[in-house]
Amino acid sequence: MNTPILVTGGTGTIGRHVVPLLRAAGADVRVLSRHPRASADGVEHVAGDTVKGEGLDAALTGVETVLHLAGGAKGDDVAARNLVAAAREAGVRHLVLISVVGADRMPIGYFRMKHAAEQEIAGGGIPFSILRVAQLHDFVLPVVRTMARMPLAPAPRGLRFEPVAVEEVAARLAAITLAEPAGLVPDLAGPEVLDVADMIRVYSATQGRTRRLMRFGIPGAVGRAYREGRNLADAAAVRGTMTWQAFLDANATAAASAQPRPNAEARVSTSGR
Ligand SMILES: NC(=O)c1ccc[n+]([C@@H]2O[C@H](COP(=O)([O-])OP(=O)(O)OC[C@H]3O[C@@H](n4cnc5c(N)ncnc54)[C@H](OP(=O)(O)O)[C@@H]3O)[C@@H](O)[C@H]2O)c1
Repeated sequence: MNTPILVTGGTGTIGRHVVPLLRAAGADVRVLSRHPRASADGVEHVAGDTVKGEGLDAALTGVETVLHLAGGAKGDDVAARNLVAAAREAGVRHLVLISVVGADRMPIGYFRMKHAAEQEIAGGGIPFSILRVAQLHDFVLPVVRTMARMPLAPAPRGLRFEPVAVEEVAARLAAITLAEPAGLVPDLAGPEVLDVADMIRVYSATQGRTRRLMRFGIPGAVGRAYREGRNLADAAAVRGTMTWQAFLDANATAAASAQPRPNAEARVSTSGR
């Protein structure tokens, strides 16, 4: 019998794509979230809270591999510490963490929290893999859409993204989870580095509109970090293949109606120090 792979946050945007890949590879999967679903199709759902440290011992029973995806705007560092402590007790042999590109370089609270979470995992005494991922297309979409709806679309100078497809992120995470621990692996980003102005223009064109842009500089250390591209992956990064245009074409309905998700602003924030 397989020992189950524990996927924290397996009900989230990325988790929903990873879990079926792990199942297809023959793994039993246990998903932990605060609001679990009924167990079905080889996927067991359990309740727990990584930030509060609740339910972790039970979730980790008999588990050798953990894919830690659960995250939010706050507390990911605390969650990582709680998970490491419980995983060490449970004898986990491979702890996989998703992080964000630029975690070690961007002077923004969200990135600092992600870096602190990485340090908890890397220093926890359990063999680990950490993958830093750029923003998902469908994560950037609500932000660009909101900007593009304004008569004069705000487009900070030097603000660039390299959005990546959730399917490509899920495939890489599944492969890393099923392989041996590899430490900090090359970043994963999309195929293009796009100025936010171009993202707004391309988005507006798919909606049959043109938009006038208001360019301005983001002040201070945060603005400098974005202009220097410290939120962007380096030359060693693995690149996905789905472009922004291809994503918008494939998701035309969602593109027209997507609502910002609660943590979106935190992750693409230009403030929040
Ligand atoms: N989306 C991106 O562009 C992107 C880019 C790079 C890195 N990441 C990172 O990838 C991870 C997953 O992102 P996502 O977009 O899939 O997030 P998401 O859609 O917001 O899903 C978050 C998941 O975590 C669970 N969760 C949140 N807080 C929890 C807690 N305290 N205890 C237990 N479970 C909790 C949620 O389930 P419940 O609400 O039911 O608990 C949900 O399953 C996050 O760590 C995020 O920072 C995301």
